[in-house]
Amino acid sequence: MCGIVGHIGPKNSIEVVLEGLKRLEYRGYDSAGVSFKKNGKIEVYKKAGKIENLKGILAKIETNANSCIGHTRWATHGEVNDTNSHPHVSENIAIVHNGIIENAHSLKIEMMKNGVKFKSQTDSEVYMALVNREIEQGNDLFSAITESFKKVEGNSAFVILNKNTNEIWALKRAAPLVCGTSKKTGEVLVSSDPYALAGMVDTIYFPGDNVVCKLDQNSENLITFFEMDGTVSQRFKSKPLEISLESTTKGTYPHFMLKEIYEQPGLIRSLAQHYVHGAGREALNASANIIPSHVHIAACGTASYAGLVIKEFFERINRIPVANELASEFRYREPILRKGEIGLFISQSGETADTLAAQELCQENGLKTLAIVNVEGSTLFRNCDANLLIKAGVEIGVASTKAFTQQALTGRLMSAALNGELKDERKIKIIFNKFSLLAERIDELLLRSEEIKAIAQKVFESKGFFFTGRGKYFPIALEGALKLKEIAYVHAEGYAAGELKHGPIALIDNEMVNIALVGPELLDKTISNVQEIKARKGKIVAFGPENNSDIESISDYYFALKFEGLDELSPLYINVANQLFAYWVARFKGTDIDKPRNLAKSVTVE
Ligand code: G6P
Repeated sequence: MCGIVGHIGPKNSIEVVLEGLKRLEYRGYDSAGVSFKKNGKIEVYKKAGKIENLKGILAKIETNANSCIGHTRWATHGEVNDTNSHPHVSENIAIVHNGIIENAHSLKIEMMKNGVKFKSQTDSEVYMALVNREIEQGNDLFSAITESFKKVEGNSAFVILNKNTNEIWALKRAAPLVCGTSKKTGEVLVSSDPYALAGMVDTIYFPGDNVVCKLDQNSENLITFFEMDGTVSQRFKSKPLEISLESTTKGTYPHFMLKEIYEQPGLIRSLAQHYVHGAGREALNASANIIPSHVHIAACGTASYAGLVIKEFFERINRIPVANELASEFRYREPILRKGEIGLFISQSGETADTLAAQELCQENGLKTLAIVNVEGSTLFRNCDANLLIKAGVEIGVASTKAFTQQALTGRLMSAALNGELKDERKIKIIFNKFSLLAERIDELLLRSEEIKAIAQKVFESKGFFFTGRGKYFPIALEGALKLKEIAYVHAEGYAAGELKHGPIALIDNEMVNIALVGPELLDKTISNVQEIKARKGKIVAFGPENNSDIESISDYYFALKFEGLDELSPLYINVANQLFAYWVARFKGTDIDKPRNLAKSVTVE
C-alpha cells in the first residue's frame, strides 16, 4: 500500500511530485506529504486526509524546489494523523516508505533503550532512525542506507532525500519501485508505479531487490544502480514508458470508475484481437502447453471472483478440476499441492501481498505458476513462470470493473487454447465472434444506463441488498454485492439463489432488495427462488432475459437483457448491469466513488 514519488529536475519538483501522488492516490489516501530542501534545510509538509488537504497548505507558501519526495498513505502502523504521515524527517534526511517493517517493534525498543526518541507510531520512522544512527556513527549515506536496510525485515520500498547532497536514493525488497528518466528534459523520477511517471519520462527502469538507485541530475544517465556492496549493478530492466498521458485523466466522465465501465467493449475487442489473431496467440498457446491435472486458483477481492468465473470455464469446457481459494486463506492452509498441477494467480496490480505469497508457496512446492495480470513488470508478473496480460490499460477506480471482465475473458481464452479451439479455423471464428458479440451487447447495455439509474433511484435507500444467481451467475452475484458495498457503503450479500432459504431468508422484509440475476439457464428454478423472496415482501429488481413475462411479472423493477449467443460469456454481460447499478446507487448516496473510504486499490500488506 502507499504510494511514493521522488523527483529531481528542471521542473518544479513539488508540482511534479504532487501530480505523481495524485495518480497514486488509488494506493491509499489516509494522508499525504512532501519534503524538499529550502535554504539548506529539509522542509516537510504533511497532512491527514486526501492530497487536496496538503495542496491547501502548500498553496499558502512559496514552493519551488528542484528535488522533492512525497507519499500518499494507507495506514498500517499507527492511526491516521498528521504525525504518522510521511515523509519522516530528521536533521539529515527525509524518507518515505511503502511496505511493512516486520521487526519494527523490537528495533524500536532497542533504539529507545539507547535514548532514541520517536515522534510517530509508524514502522517507517524506525528505518529513518537506523539510517540516522549510522550517519551519527560516521558512516557515509550509502552505507547508512544499505546497512539499515539489511536490518529491517519484511517487504519495503524506501525513497530518501539527503540534506547535504543533491541526489535522491531509493531501494526496495519485494515491493514495487520504478524509476524513469527523460534525457530530453533532464527529469528523473522514482515511484511505486509507472503510471505516476506518464507524460514526464520516456524510459523506465525496474530495479531488482536490494539494488540501490541513485537519482542524480549531474550524472550522464541521470540514474545509477548499485549493489549493496557499492559496485555498479546491472540488475534492472529498462523499457520505454508506454502509458499515455490521456489514460491519467477522466476525460468527459465524472468518475474514473464510469470511464472504466465504458471502456469495456473496446477492451474486449482488442483482447480477442490480441490473443486470437495477434501477438498474444503464442503466449496463450505456450501457457496451454502444460496441460494441468488440477488447477489451484488463488486471488483476492474482485480478482478472486474472476477466478470463480474461470473455474467454471475450466471445469465445464476443459473438464479440468479447479480449486479456487482466497489467497489470504490458501497460504496458511497447508494446501495439498502435487506435481503436474498448476497454480494460477489472478491480479490487476500484480502486487497483492497475499496473492504473491500464494504464488511463492506453489513455486516452493514445485508447481508451475501462471499469472493472469494487468500490470506488466509487476512482482507477480516477474515471479510466475508464464503470464497472460489482460490488456485492461490503467485502472484507477479503486473498485475494479474492467479488470474483472478482462481477467475472466483471458481465462476463457486460456481455456480455449487448452481445448485446441485456437488451432481450428472454424473454432477460432466462433470464439472471436462470441467476444465481438459480447462487446456489442455491452455497448447496447451501456446506452441504457439511465434505466438502471432510474431503478437505483427507487431503491438506494433500502436497508440491504441480496444479489442472487445460480450456476455461472453465482460469482457475478458475489461480485455485484462487493461492488455495491465498496462504493455505496451499503450492506449487500451475494448468494447462490438456492441457498437463501437456508438462513438468510430470515432477513427478508419489505426493506430488503433482491437483485435477481436471471440468465436463461435454470430459469424456472431461479424464478422459484425469486418467488420465495417476493412472498416475504422483499423488493425484486431482476436483470433477466427479454420477453420473459414470468420473471418480469413478479419483479418490482425489470431490466431486460439479450442473452442469445453469449452462452458461457453471459455472466460478464449481466455483470455490467451490476456495475452500473452500484455506480448509480453510490451517486445517489453521494459517496466518494473513485476513492471509497478505508480502501486501497493495491493491497501490498497481509
Ligand atoms: C483490493 C481492491 C480490490 C481488488 C483486490 C485485489 O482489495 O480494493 O478492488 O480486487 O485488492 O487486487 P488485485 O490487484 O490483486 O487484483
